[in-house]
Amino acid sequence: MATPHINAADGAFAETVLMPGDPLRAQYIAENFLENAERVTDVRNMFGYTGTYKGKKVSVMGHGMGIPSCSIYVHELIKDYGVKNIIRVGSCGAVKDDVKLMDVIVAQGASTDSKVNRTRFANHDFAAISDFHLLETAVGEARKQNVSVRVGNVFSADLFYSPEADLFNTMDKLGILAVDMEAAGIYGVAAELGARALTILTVSDHIIRGEALSSDERQKSFNEMMTVSLETAIN
Ligand code: HPA
Repeated sequence: MATPHINAADGAFAETVLMPGDPLRAQYIAENFLENAERVTDVRNMFGYTGTYKGKKVSVMGHGMGIPSCSIYVHELIKDYGVKNIIRVGSCGAVKDDVKLMDVIVAQGASTDSKVNRTRFANHDFAAISDFHLLETAVGEARKQNVSVRVGNVFSADLFYSPEADLFNTMDKLGILAVDMEAAGIYGVAAELGARALTILTVSDHIIRGEALSSDERQKSFNEMMTVSLETAIN
């Protein structure tokens, strides 16, 4: 049954949904990486597609920017469409000194300044972690494909334009690899609803060093992340 934000038919999604922030990225993935992909939802132009990868059914759908947006789509996919595995495929800004542009980051856990997981957990701290099976599979795939991969804690920020510049240095000291805007929210929804989730990120910029990828490097690094993510989706 359609939900307020997804107008796909019952059974339209695979058990595993890859989720970039940008719906046009979802379209790009469907057109360039999946076979026989069909668009299954288009509410608010937040496109979702289902096709196959190496013969196995896989879906891809945009989740928008920030924890409120991604939480809506992930919640409805799991609760109303029976999705079991969510793999976010996004970008991040690195903070840790030894993280390089072009690295792929697998978010083992996600810290946050968002209150959503405290709202879920009687105001206690919830350790927002990825599913170990998906994590192990993704790291194995990255190593197999010789992709430079880092595994650890990320920080899902509510504000892209943060006034707290000092916080990035504290994150670096605490071993946080990079900043995104969704992982902690997606891990919270998955835990609440009993699904598995993982976030895989390309490093598009280094926040402390002020570096950024060129558009060619962005595409190469995105393609590397996609092959790791698609192999994870079917294994
Ligand atoms: N902050 C949050 N999310 C991001 C960034 C950033 O600097 N870069 C890419 N995604």
